[in-house]
Amino acid sequence: MSKVALITGVTGQDGSFLSEFLLEKGYEVHGIIRRSSVDYRERIAHLEGRPHFHLHYADLGDSMSIVKVVSVVRPDEIYNLAAQSHVQVSFDSPEFTADVDAVGVLRVLEAVRASGLENTCRIYQASTSELYGKVEEVPQNENTPFHPYSPYAVAKLYGFWIVKEYREAYHMFCCSGILFNHESERRGETFVTRKITLAAARISQGLQDCLYLGNMDSLRDWGYAKDYVECMWIILQQDKPEDFVIATGVQHSVREFTELAFKHAGIELKFEGEGINEKGIVVKGPENLIGKTVVAVSEDFYRPTDVVNLWGDPTKAKAKLGWNPNKTTFEELVKLMVEHDIANVAAEGAAAKVRTNLAEYLEKGIVK
Ligand code: NAP
Ligand code: GDD
Repeated sequence: MSKVALITGVTGQDGSFLSEFLLEKGYEVHGIIRRSSVDYRERIAHLEGRPHFHLHYADLGDSMSIVKVVSVVRPDEIYNLAAQSHVQVSFDSPEFTADVDAVGVLRVLEAVRASGLENTCRIYQASTSELYGKVEEVPQNENTPFHPYSPYAVAKLYGFWIVKEYREAYHMFCCSGILFNHESERRGETFVTRKITLAAARISQGLQDCLYLGNMDSLRDWGYAKDYVECMWIILQQDKPEDFVIATGVQHSVREFTELAFKHAGIELKFEGEGINEKGIVVKGPENLIGKTVVAVSEDFYRPTDVVNLWGDPTKAKAKLGWNPNKTTFEELVKLMVEHDIANVAAEGAAAKVRTNLAEYLEKGIVK
């Protein structure tokens, strides 16, 4: 009999990679989706219609729908990836973020109990390095104190603790993966890495004039999402439930990411100025771009409180899970994202320009 997995957040970056991974392992994969007016499920379109891939309408804000899906599917493993996952958006929609990212986790745990699966179903909770927030030590490991620094992180902290509570109170096999930033060619277009790789591709093809960023000094430990979803599965295959930091152990700034992404798009940049006045000017590349400012800073992308120094220590995951933090290097990650976006933008042509504007409006929360 094949194992049955239920993935919340199946349409997201991680959900789509995890679905592929579990199908490959012979799982029966069920995912929950939300109704949307455009019904555009681009990341899982290639999986729809496969015999072992099933979708159900449900919402993490709606307990009844979660109980129904869990009791019908009766999963062996649940991967709770669904979340309002954008930190900046959590300042605009804090209550929604809390409902989905905090209470939503409780709803999943309670649905498992209500379905009588608490002794058999293993649960993975998508926790985050954002819990370290205004960091109290570098690098961060499983014993580093948490200091959440956004409504998103505060909500995720509840998720982390309620998982721990259910593990201890009801002896459920539930664990949190404290994952550091992981990116890919499927990353949402308003997260900084994808925003940069798309802009580099569009600027190199004359479809965008300038990339506006916020805090370029911010430091992150960036890995490749495809490698990280494998760890989610490994965490659930252990003899006992435990929480793990998953990271590469290597840190880079937003500026370094930008510089490298543009380089892969054939544009060499020189940075001048500081803070809000910083600019990225083209020193090598297409003739018509030489001397032009293609990267600038906009206050619109500063956050009320920003997490600026994330750097993970994956020692425990290496020792206990056999995690290889260097499977995909930072350089390889940036390259694969830029190459994908160059091809993507070339295929989209003029439509790419419309999407640039849309992504920028969405990120700024401009609905005026
Ligand atoms: P993502 O691309 O933003 O995907 C989020 C998923 O959650 C989407 O499928 C979304 O559905 C779904 N969702 C949102 N609200 C929902 C609701 N009320 N009910 C049901 N589904 C809902 O995020 P990701 O990057 O794949 O991240 C996956 C998880 O890991 C998230 O919980 C995130 O907070 C966490 N995490 C991510 C990272 C990272 O670097 N990527 C690091 C640490 C932790 P729609 O498509 O319908 O919007
Ligand atoms: N989005 C964005 N846009 N971020 C920018 C920009 C910009 O124009 N300019 C600078 N940044 C900085 C942010 O201020 C932040 O310090 C950093 O780039 C990374 O921002 P994001 O890519 O939006 O990711 P995040 O780190 O806030 O959150 C992601 O990683 C978390 C794990 O640490 C999300 O995937 C979360 O869901 C996840 O938990």
